[in-house]
Amino acid sequence: MIKYNRILNKLFVDTFRPRICRRLASSSSRPQLKSGPDLQHFLATSQTNSILDPFVVTRNLPIPYINENDLNGNGAKVFIRTYGCQMNVNDTQITSTVLKNSGYELVDDINDAEIVFLMTCAIRENAETKVWNKLKELSLLKINGKIKQIGLLGCIAERLKTEILVKHQLIDIIAGPDSYRDLPKLLAINRMTGQNAVNVLLSFDETYSDIMPTISKSSVTAFVSIMRGCDNMCSYCIVPFTRGRERSRAIESIVNEVKQLSNSGVKEVTLLGQNVNSYRDLSHESNNTSISLVPGFKTVYKPRLRGFTFDILLDEVAKVDPNMRIRFTSPHPKDFADEVLHVIRKHNNICNCIHLPVQSGSNQVLARMRRGYTREAYLALVDRIRQLIPDCALSSDFICGFCGETDDDHKLTVDIMQKVRYMSAFTFAYSMRQRTHAFHKLSDDVSSDVKIQRVNQISQLYRDIALEINKSFIGKQQLILIENVSKKSDNYLYGRNEANLKVIVPKVVIPVVDQNQSSLKLIEAGDYVRVDIQDCTAITLMAKPICHQKLSHLP
Ligand code: 5AD
Ligand code: SF4
Repeated sequence: MIKYNRILNKLFVDTFRPRICRRLASSSSRPQLKSGPDLQHFLATSQTNSILDPFVVTRNLPIPYINENDLNGNGAKVFIRTYGCQMNVNDTQITSTVLKNSGYELVDDINDAEIVFLMTCAIRENAETKVWNKLKELSLLKINGKIKQIGLLGCIAERLKTEILVKHQLIDIIAGPDSYRDLPKLLAINRMTGQNAVNVLLSFDETYSDIMPTISKSSVTAFVSIMRGCDNMCSYCIVPFTRGRERSRAIESIVNEVKQLSNSGVKEVTLLGQNVNSYRDLSHESNNTSISLVPGFKTVYKPRLRGFTFDILLDEVAKVDPNMRIRFTSPHPKDFADEVLHVIRKHNNICNCIHLPVQSGSNQVLARMRRGYTREAYLALVDRIRQLIPDCALSSDFICGFCGETDDDHKLTVDIMQKVRYMSAFTFAYSMRQRTHAFHKLSDDVSSDVKIQRVNQISQLYRDIALEINKSFIGKQQLILIENVSKKSDNYLYGRNEANLKVIVPKVVIPVVDQNQSSLKLIEAGDYVRVDIQDCTAITLMAKPICHQKLSHLP
């Protein structure tokens, strides 16, 4: 073991002998190239090659020595480990479909796999650290010959591009968020030539619209990606650089996907996008000027006027199946115009639950973050939401210790949390990311101790408030969607209420409420159940089930 650690350390530290390591890793597994790359390929790729000569794929570059058969995985077993947000979970599902369509088999256990992909997140340094640690583990498996190919997908791939090959020599394939369609090609290139295969091009139009994500057959919930990318350029955020420009799928293709999911028994759909409510379907010639920015909010880009907006999409999606719950994430507060709020209010099946990332309660910090609003504008929006949708649960994201944040700034963040009283909150210590505006122009001058202290303080405050809110539900009834068996006991199930909180119920037989018949039925995943809330923590509710009830039967 000590010997292995020494080898591993050497692999990580010694960045100047990549070829030796690559040969070490691949010698046993790679078949001979039938007919190798020609001069044209050498010339085409030589301009982009790094010190390590990876094979950089550009979308229009044909690869004559790779034919249809070479693209086939012939049943090779692939495991994908996902890090980060729901977009990454959905990207893994899209990638799984791409690979399955090319003859690869997806497995749930890494020990059964010969190819391993990591779907990565680059939003904070600690998200990246987890991936580098996992790669150390994988290296052992590769050196032992258990794994033949390792691929890095998603945001770290996009952030570091071929630099990754210097940092980690045992990676074979690198694919950014817009390159998953190319994975069969990248796998074949690497298998056949032994070269690292890379595609990190960002696209203006890739939405994977025609690819149905792979989800488990018994899944009660599903993600539907409706747009990709972000144009907001918040000064701390790497996302616009790793995920590229905003682009939206056509309404028809989204509605069709939701219909298919409804037909296959899915009971809840979450519409996904980095900036989900900034959705704008430009495939139609419409001059839709009905939706505008929330008053007091501004953008770094010119206001857009054409296309079908989020309110129109949400309305169409909600109409697909009145017994299917609709959620969406992650939104930006600027795009919660009244039109969107009216659609949420109109449909019983759109959850009254809005994520409203505030990031900071201080106007100075908000301005440095380039969020495009003041605390006053944000609080006015909260009032408007509560006026139009009185029982709406709000959640938020907070960054503590952003450049120049003082104790007084932090107090204003504490204050905004006390004023809004969020049902849930995600709290992060600021992590400076290369390429962002803050990296170039601001100083990361809050010590990590202070950042952690501030994160702990607002996390505790959020839990205290959430516990108070949850206690107020005790003795009240809610409708929950049962998702699965509880992890702690087979005699219990868990579901979620509209606010997306976990609700634990015993697995029992209860009446079915239906106008035409009365019967009894055991509770199972996929059922909507009316429950009586009996106990709670800050993040979970415990309840007694009363009856099965259809979502469409809500008053
Ligand atoms: N440091 C800390 N948190 C960040 N987020 C985005 N970028 C950073 C960063 N550099 C947080 C924001 C965002 C959430 C998804 O991640 O709160 O809303
Ligand atoms: Fe990042 Fe801001 Fe875009 Fe959200 S809106 S992804 S925080 S740049």
